[in-house]
Amino acid sequence: MTPPITIAIDGPSGSGKSSVSKEVARRLGVAYLDTGAMYRAATWWCLREGVDLTDTQAVTAVVDTMPLTMSVNPNDPTVRVDDINISEAIRDTGISTKVSAVATNIEVREILRTLQRNRITAERTGGFSQGKGIVAEGRDITTVVAPDADVRILLTASEEARLRRRAQDVHGTADAQAVEATKDEVLRRDADDSTVTQFQIAADGVITLDSSDLDFEQTITAVLNIIEHTTTPAQ
Ligand code: DC
Repeated sequence: MTPPITIAIDGPSGSGKSSVSKEVARRLGVAYLDTGAMYRAATWWCLREGVDLTDTQAVTAVVDTMPLTMSVNPNDPTVRVDDINISEAIRDTGISTKVSAVATNIEVREILRTLQRNRITAERTGGFSQGKGIVAEGRDITTVVAPDADVRILLTASEEARLRRRAQDVHGTADAQAVEATKDEVLRRDADDSTVTQFQIAADGVITLDSSDLDFEQTITAVLNIIEHTTTPAQ
């Protein structure tokens, strides 16, 4: 692998893309960009500013001036807005249930996509990774934000596996009640988000990795294999 390298990973809720992307970035010694956290931060900021999330113009105006600071250190991916550390607050159910309203705002997407592209470019020349590159994950990284990335992966998992994982993350258990409580966050949100981005089917040239039957370590190994084989010319 010759740096700089840009690795784009997309996938639906509960596919495990955040933890997988973070760990892959750690192992490669590159930066990590959680673009979902940017949509969550934008939602948090709108709520704090008292903006009605259905007022798309007001939301766009407020997001345009959001004082966002994203750390791209995979060991400490802190998110700050107005110098407040909101890394935990943006994971609250209150944000999870509202974030699609902001993420389906086309003008907001353009604002955040520009920030994301700038960050990817910065890591290819300097930044946290000192020019080694970045793993960027989300819903439209392989297709719109970085269609020219060196490696593009769509990480999927069956609906059952995704519900189980998200229930375990949010409720600490994957029993029937916890899985039921997770359905809105996973299925309804993906249905809403699918209206503006296609992340259920891989675009041309994007490699699909189904992690339904893989544990965490197996998924990391599979991603590292794809990276090695995509970037190393055949002997
Ligand atoms: O991956 P996540 O659950 O943290 O994402 C939060 C929301 O942001 C989710 O509703 C999908 C949306 N999102 C998006 O539309 N485009 C991205 N690149 C990343 C996330």
